[in-house]
Amino acid sequence: MSTTGTAVADIGAFLADHESRSTLRFITCGSVDDGKSTLIGRLLYEADLVLDDQLATLEVDSRKVGTRGADLDFALLVDGLQAEREQGITIDVAYRFFTTARRQFIVADTPGHVQYTRNMATGASTADLAVILVDATRGVLEQTRRHTHLVALMGIDQVILAVNKLDLVGYSRDRFDAVVADYAVLADEVGIDRVTAVPLCAVNGDNLTGPSPNTAWYSGPSLLGALEDAPARGRDAEGPLRFAVQWVNRPDSSFRGFSGEVLAGTIAPGDDVVVLPSGARSVVDRIVTAEGDLDRATAGQAVTFTLSDEVDVSRGDVIADPAEPPIVADRFGAQLVWMAETPLVPGRRYRAKIGTATVGATVGPSLRAVDIASGIAAPVASLGLNDIGTVAVTLDAPIVIDRYARDRTLGGLILIDRLTNDTVAAGMIDDTSGTVSDLHWQDLSVDRTARRGLMGHGSAVVWLTGVSGAGKSTIADAVERKLHARGVHTFLLDGDNLRHGLCRDLGFSEADRSENIRRAGSVAKLLHEAGLVVIAAFISPYEAERRAVREQFSVGEFVEVFVDTPIAVAADRDPKGLYAKAERGELVNFTCIDAPYEAPDDAEVRIDTTVTSVEHAANDIIARLVENGIIGG
Ligand code: ADX
Repeated sequence: MSTTGTAVADIGAFLADHESRSTLRFITCGSVDDGKSTLIGRLLYEADLVLDDQLATLEVDSRKVGTRGADLDFALLVDGLQAEREQGITIDVAYRFFTTARRQFIVADTPGHVQYTRNMATGASTADLAVILVDATRGVLEQTRRHTHLVALMGIDQVILAVNKLDLVGYSRDRFDAVVADYAVLADEVGIDRVTAVPLCAVNGDNLTGPSPNTAWYSGPSLLGALEDAPARGRDAEGPLRFAVQWVNRPDSSFRGFSGEVLAGTIAPGDDVVVLPSGARSVVDRIVTAEGDLDRATAGQAVTFTLSDEVDVSRGDVIADPAEPPIVADRFGAQLVWMAETPLVPGRRYRAKIGTATVGATVGPSLRAVDIASGIAAPVASLGLNDIGTVAVTLDAPIVIDRYARDRTLGGLILIDRLTNDTVAAGMIDDTSGTVSDLHWQDLSVDRTARRGLMGHGSAVVWLTGVSGAGKSTIADAVERKLHARGVHTFLLDGDNLRHGLCRDLGFSEADRSENIRRAGSVAKLLHEAGLVVIAAFISPYEAERRAVREQFSVGEFVEVFVDTPIAVAADRDPKGLYAKAERGELVNFTCIDAPYEAPDDAEVRIDTTVTSVEHAANDIIARLVENGIIGG
């Protein structure tokens, strides 16, 4: 067994030898209870792959805090590193490298805490194989099912089933066979064809790197042997060119290079290429490196190249073979793993990252979630932490996508919460059929400037938010009355009124309110285009939806008004008797009773209705419109 630490006289030969060995990327799934840390630590030790300084620390730690008396506690080897990396908060996955005489390995080791799916999804997205740990005394558990589903979802089609703690069941062959049979049913269910089961006792090192006398009945490979034999996934150097632009390299005005990774195919000077989604065509000029130009680059290589024309290229674009261009789409079907505490809100705008592109994205209302216990997918209203679901996604603009099974980069997506910047989901695109929108925005001759001339004033949206009974409608009405008296063309959109018609199909769940505000925002946008001063009064309790409405308007044309009334005061006023009803339990999802209200902290105008009269409030709002140049003073 050669080690990464060995001094080698001829470094060139050593490196060449290393490069000739294939690399296997794998992920380990299991919890600390299953002996995962011990397994990995022991594997590295048995394979003579633990660096000396780590070993010295391990000896000290084992004596100090180990659970194995005078013996080495291998769990500490991995856990120690884990604690270290947990200080770097952004890294959830530690990649460790080790080499044997036959092969090099990259193992994605993921901490086994509660948010494991998120870490696993990250580690699994580049893995060729998964080692799934099962405790022989406990067998196939819900957690095993979850790991297996996730692994299959991430496109991994081979598993090593590590049946650990066999010593605790007397190295029983029957017990091993029973666990293997149970797992075979699960593997079949999720479509994992290649399962190699290895009976193990990680603490004693049985079958880790060679055969164990304790399992004379077993003739299969050791864990390390199975890892060495597993086929690795090859890069698609044969397929048509796909190059994802990571950034546009522009050190001075004479050079404009496009940096990124060749995802598939090859690229060479003189090649015709198409830039997508724009569709611009050009020819590759040079492939530039510090050591001189290359005459070609192939899948897996990160390079910078130039084009012979001044075409528009930006981060997120894909440069491809024009003879076989990829799919450009603004909608697709995907499998999502929800990774946030706050559930998915269908209809809410998230930020999607696909390949190197970032774009606004919305998940449609028809969702299905997989019940891990039964493996059955059923319709659901939302996805919660660790749920795995099938969704339809619509993007704000078309970009290059692919199916995850074909291209993990262009087919993999993550969703990011636009307010917190947290990654809330990881997904795999699995349906790209009928995905190019044939809708185009129609430019019309009479525009807003022309209408402004006729109206004699500009257009804007005054958006009033606040709890039920805060006084939104009353203030909105006063504003409209005053504007009307000044000869300003207005229209008032009121929550209750819209819910009698356009939004009559919507209730008060988070998703329905989100859709309610999306519709109200769209109508406000149309009326604004029509040249009116729009006054909108909606509870609009969620910051995300208010922000999405705001983003449709330019600064100064959207005036958010927070009608700030303490809930006790609103409940006391109770103009519609709804608080009383909600208290009696006759109304559900009532704002501030059993549904949230996220108060804005960046509203242009805040009105404290306990001290400000309706007249004053209306005057304040109108003053803001004058200040913003929408109407005359
Ligand atoms: S929003 O949350 O989606 O913005 P919207 O402003 O359209 O709500 O409608 C709120 C109005 O619906 C309230 O003024 C109230 O009259 C009525 N209503 C009925 N049920 C509820 C409820 N559960 N929560 C809040 N308002 C409700």
